[in-house]
Amino acid sequence: MDSVTLRNGVKMPLLGFGVLRMKDPAACIRCVREAFESGYRMFDTAASYGNEEAVGRALRELIEEGKAKREDLFIITKLWIDDAGEEAAGKAFEESCRRLQTDYIDLYLIHQPYSDYYGAWRTMERLYREGRVRAVGVSNFSPERLTDLCLNSRIPPMVNQVELHPFYHQDGALRVMGELGVQPQAWAPLCEGLKKIFSNKVLEKIGGKHGKTAAQTALRWNVDRGVSVVTRSSVPAHMQEDYDIWDFTLSEAERQLIDQLDLGYSEILDYGNPCIARMFLKKR
Ligand SMILES: NC(=O)c1ccc[n+]([C@@H]2O[C@H](COP(=O)([O-])OP(=O)(O)OC[C@H]3O[C@@H](n4cnc5c(N)ncnc54)[C@H](OP(=O)(O)O)[C@@H]3O)[C@@H](O)[C@H]2O)c1
Repeated sequence: MDSVTLRNGVKMPLLGFGVLRMKDPAACIRCVREAFESGYRMFDTAASYGNEEAVGRALRELIEEGKAKREDLFIITKLWIDDAGEEAAGKAFEESCRRLQTDYIDLYLIHQPYSDYYGAWRTMERLYREGRVRAVGVSNFSPERLTDLCLNSRIPPMVNQVELHPFYHQDGALRVMGELGVQPQAWAPLCEGLKKIFSNKVLEKIGGKHGKTAAQTALRWNVDRGVSVVTRSSVPAHMQEDYDIWDFTLSEAERQLIDQLDLGYSEILDYGNPCIARMFLKKR
């Protein structure tokens, strides 16, 4: 598995396993264990997913069974809007650590660009200085919000986790992240299975030339452009398939074919729409 080096020298895997919507603890534990067996070492959860405890238990079991070492795991979790602000963020972090059964987090992200995220960021900086987090970052930050935060913080974000898949490329946002030294990470790299991505003719045809599936082609396309991806599955065969992307690469001509799939907008969450802020802040 390839990795990317963040601006502070920390190595982050280019592929991780996400646990969004895995609410049932037993199912979540099973999936994390199966993902680990498939090779995944980076796990992406969030306080708002309601499954940090299950993720923590699965990883603790693997450590106690001698299969995993904590230092070989890369744990990502995220601070929810309700805990924005300096003081609340500190408490939320300790709660996340307790639920995850760890005393440090590899990458701690501000989940949404809403409410008092500047206060939260001061806490992220403190946690980083104290060695409680190996890297700090944000999620769903638009280019202008990201630029503002980078220019107004002592320790700028190292990662921005945003929606990136063959139907939503966000090339402009990636350019800005590159200029700011912020590593992009993709959520929904398989477009959450929407738009018939797994039988998309362009992805299938390109993948076919490499002996790969449409899913593998979509993941590799992001990795080829330097994007770290977190993908989700509850099916062991899919986990293995999604992990098996390290023995091929796309040509320039193949990338140009995928360029034509870009809609230029998100059909999952349009962060440019003020209704999204209202929805997350539960204020209508
Ligand atoms: N920061 C944020 O705001 C944010 C937002 C959304 C997501 N995320 C993170 O990103 C992770 C991934 O995104 P996501 O969960 O939204 O969607 P995704 O990874 O794009 O897609 C997941 C869907 O694809 C299916 N799938 C996976 N591999 C497959 C394969 N090889 N063949 C066929 N189907 C396959 C899964 O179904 P099966 O179970 O049937 O395989 C599942 O329904 C999340 O789990 C979460 O950790 C973060």
